[in-house]
Amino acid sequence: MLELEGIHFHPATAEKKILNGLSLKAYAGLPIIIGGSSGSGKTSLIEVISGLAKPQSGRITWFEKHLSERQRRMLSGVVFQFPERHFLGLTVGQELRLGHKRLSGEDQSEALFKVGLSEVNIKSAPEKLSGGQQRRLAIAVQLLRKPSILLLDEPTAGLDWSVRDEIINLLANLSRNQVLVIVTHEPELFRKWVKSTYQLKNGKLIK
Ligand SMILES: Nc1ncnc2c1ncn2[C@@H]1O[C@H](COP(=O)(O)OP(=O)(O)OP(=O)(O)O)[C@@H](O)[C@H]1O
Ligand SMILES: [Mg+2]
Repeated sequence: MLELEGIHFHPATAEKKILNGLSLKAYAGLPIIIGGSSGSGKTSLIEVISGLAKPQSGRITWFEKHLSERQRRMLSGVVFQFPERHFLGLTVGQELRLGHKRLSGEDQSEALFKVGLSEVNIKSAPEKLSGGQQRRLAIAVQLLRKPSILLLDEPTAGLDWSVRDEIINLLANLSRNQVLVIVTHEPELFRKWVKSTYQLKNGKLIK
């Protein structure tokens, strides 16, 4: 279980506090959707949870044990907004192997299977995949890290509606086994299967 308690986040370069006493509990199997207007701090919250940013105060724990930034980076897999813009591999296989030099064929197949890309030729260029397949590949890359906490920033942004549904169904499946936090402009898209929906407002989460 991931718990955030009384998180205050105010980077020196920000005009005002971004997170202001925010608290959150997230469990495997109970995905959390966080909505909020542009600039409300959704991406910042993902950066704080994943250890990419350090809050000024507050506690972040995993099964009641304090987590350092480094430990949070190890536990987290982050799929940033428009991840397909940041593919570096020349092929699907290369993209999966970045950071996993000794990736076994079995692990590679498993990751592709989990995201419904078993049929894709690993020699094809990531840019040649469809928009939905590219998003799936970005999720597969994070799954290879076997993250306990999967964080997604606007996973449905820029996808047409049929592809959006595919991605939402995939996330619903993944959420069964791990802590999943999704921040999005479109929380209503997830209402079908997510019970915990919050809004980020004035640096806090409200129901
Ligand atoms: N490191 C930083 N330094 C200065 N300001 C920052 C920093 N990180 C975020 N901000 C500011 O904090 C606010 C929240 O930003 P954030 O990107 O988290 O919002 P968001 O909810 O993800 O917005 P969007 O929906 O547009 O993606 C914004 O006003 C942003 O400019
Ligand atoms: Mg954002």
